[in-house]
Amino acid sequence: MNMLLTGGTGLIGSVIKTELERQGHGVINLARGKMELFIKGKFDGLGNVDTFIHCARDRKYLESASRENWVGEYIVDVVAAYEISMMLNELCPSLKNIILISSAYGIRPANPKISNSPIHYGVAKAAQIHLAKELAVRLAPKVRANCISYGGVESDRNTEEFKQQYSKNVPLGRMATTNDLFHAVEYILNNDYITGQNLVVDGGMTI
Ligand SMILES: NC(=O)c1ccc[n+]([C@@H]2O[C@H](COP(=O)([O-])OP(=O)(O)OC[C@H]3O[C@@H](n4cnc5c(N)ncnc54)[C@H](OP(=O)(O)O)[C@@H]3O)[C@@H](O)[C@H]2O)c1
Repeated sequence: MNMLLTGGTGLIGSVIKTELERQGHGVINLARGKMELFIKGKFDGLGNVDTFIHCARDRKYLESASRENWVGEYIVDVVAAYEISMMLNELCPSLKNIILISSAYGIRPANPKISNSPIHYGVAKAAQIHLAKELAVRLAPKVRANCISYGGVESDRNTEEFKQQYSKNVPLGRMATTNDLFHAVEYILNNDYITGQNLVVDGGMTI
C-alpha cells in the first residue's frame, strides 16, 4: 500500500509509520508546513496514494481555550483532514482508505478525576468522529473512512502522579502503551466491509 500520513514524527504517528514501513508499505509523511502546502495544492510527489492517515495535532493549541486555540485545533483536526481527503479523492484514483486519529475525549468529556483536557480539544475530536461518517457516506463505495479513538498513551510527557490517577480510573488499570496502537490500524486496513466506524482503543475509559 502507499500511504500518506500526517503527524508521522509524533508519539502515535511514528509508531504507525514504523509498523507500516516494517510491513513493506510506502509511507509519505506530510510534515508540519508541508501539510499546509499540500492543502494549497503545492505538494507533488504524491504517487499512487491508496491510504490517508491523519495523525497530526499541534499541542500548542491545548494551552488555553482561547478563540485562537479553538480555531487552530479545529483546523488541524477537522478542516485539514477534510481538505486533504477531498484532494486525494480527486487526485488519486487509487485512494481506498481514510483513517482519522481521534481521542476518547471526542466521545466523552474529560473526567476531572483524570485530566483537565481542554474543552475545544474534545469538541474537535468529536467532530473528527463525525467527519469520518460523512466521508464514509460521501466517498462510498470507492473509499472507506474510519476513525480510531485512543485513550491516553503513556509517554515521558506524563508525570507519575498523572499515570497513577489515570490508571485508577480506567477499567483496564493502565494507560495505553505504544504496543497497543497499531493493531487497530491494521484491523481497519484489513477489513474491506468496515466504513464510518469509530474504533475505540481506550482500556474501557469511555464505557
Ligand atoms: N498522545 C495521546 O495520549 C493521545 C491520546 C488519544 C488521542 N491522541 C490523538 O492522536 C493524534 C496524535 O497525537 P500525538 O500525541 O502522537 O501527537 P504529537 O506527539 O504531539 O505529534 C503531533 C504530530 O503532528 C505534527 N504537527 C504538528 N502541527 C502540525 C501542523 N500544523 N501541520 C502538520 N503536522 C503538524 C507534528 O510534527 P512536528 O514533528 O513538526 O512537531 C507531529 O508529527 C492526535 O490526533 C491526538 O489528538 C493522542
